[in-house]
Amino acid sequence: MIIGKKPTNEERKKIKAFVDKNIHIYPDYLQQEIQEKIYLGFTNNNDIINQIYCYLNIEDSHLNPYKAYIEIINNRLNVSNKKILEVGSGVIPILGNMLTEEGNNKVTIIDPLTNKKFVKNKTMLINENFDEETNISSYDIIIGYNPCRPTEQIIKKSINEKKDFSVATCGCCFLPKEYTERTPSNWHEYLINIAKKEGGDKYEIYVEYLPEIYMIEYPIISGKYIK
Ligand SMILES: C[S@@+](CC[C@H](N)C(=O)[O-])C[C@H]1O[C@@H](n2cnc3c(N)ncnc32)[C@H](O)[C@@H]1O
Repeated sequence: MIIGKKPTNEERKKIKAFVDKNIHIYPDYLQQEIQEKIYLGFTNNNDIINQIYCYLNIEDSHLNPYKAYIEIINNRLNVSNKKILEVGSGVIPILGNMLTEEGNNKVTIIDPLTNKKFVKNKTMLINENFDEETNISSYDIIIGYNPCRPTEQIIKKSINEKKDFSVATCGCCFLPKEYTERTPSNWHEYLINIAKKEGGDKYEIYVEYLPEIYMIEYPIISGKYIK
C-alpha cells in the first residue's frame, strides 16, 4: 500500500536518473516491479521501492521506517558502540548504512543480494546467505528488518550464542516454503513463543510495533540477554 505522497516533478527526475543508471543491477523480476511501481510513492510493504526513495532522500520527512526501527532497538538494546550484524540488508542497505553513521558502531551486513556500490565505506558486506554456518561470535547484536526467510534462524542462533537480537517481522509466513499453511499471525505467534521459550529466564523478550503512521501490523521481536 502507498503511504507517502506522490513524488514531485523534481523528485521524478531524480528517480528517473536513478532508474536509468541502476536498473541493470536488479534481477529481472525486480526490474519489472521497479518500472511498474517506482513513481507511485513510498509504501508500507515494498522494500525495493522504499530503499530507492530513502537512498535519494525523497521519502516524506516523517516517514522512514528504518529510522523508526533504530529508535525502537536503541531503546531496548542500545546500539551505540556495538558490533552489529544486520541480516537481509537488501539491495540498497539503508538500515546498515544508517547504523554505521550512528555512534561508534561497527556494522556488518549479510545478504547475497546487496550491491556493494550502495554500501557505505565503513559498513562491511558479506554477500552470502545467513545460515547455520555463519559465525556470529564476534558480534554484540544480530538484527534484521524484514529479513523474511532467515527470521527464525536469527532468533534461535542469537539465543543459542547469548547475543542480543531484534527482528522486524514481515508478512512472509510462507518462508521457508514448508510453512504454506501459516497465516502471518500464526507465524508471529510462533516466533514470539520460540523467543520466549528458548530465551527462558536468560532473556528479556520485547514485542512492539512501529508507530501507526507506517501501517505495518507485524511485530518487532527483540531479545536482551541478561548477563
Ligand atoms: C524483504 S527484503 C528486506 C530488505 C531490507 N532489510 C529492507 O527492508 O529494506 C529481504 C532480504 O533478505 C535477503 N535474504 C533472504 N534470505 C537471506 C539469508 N538467508 N541470509 C541473508 N539475507 C537473506 C534477501 O536477499 C532480501 O534482500
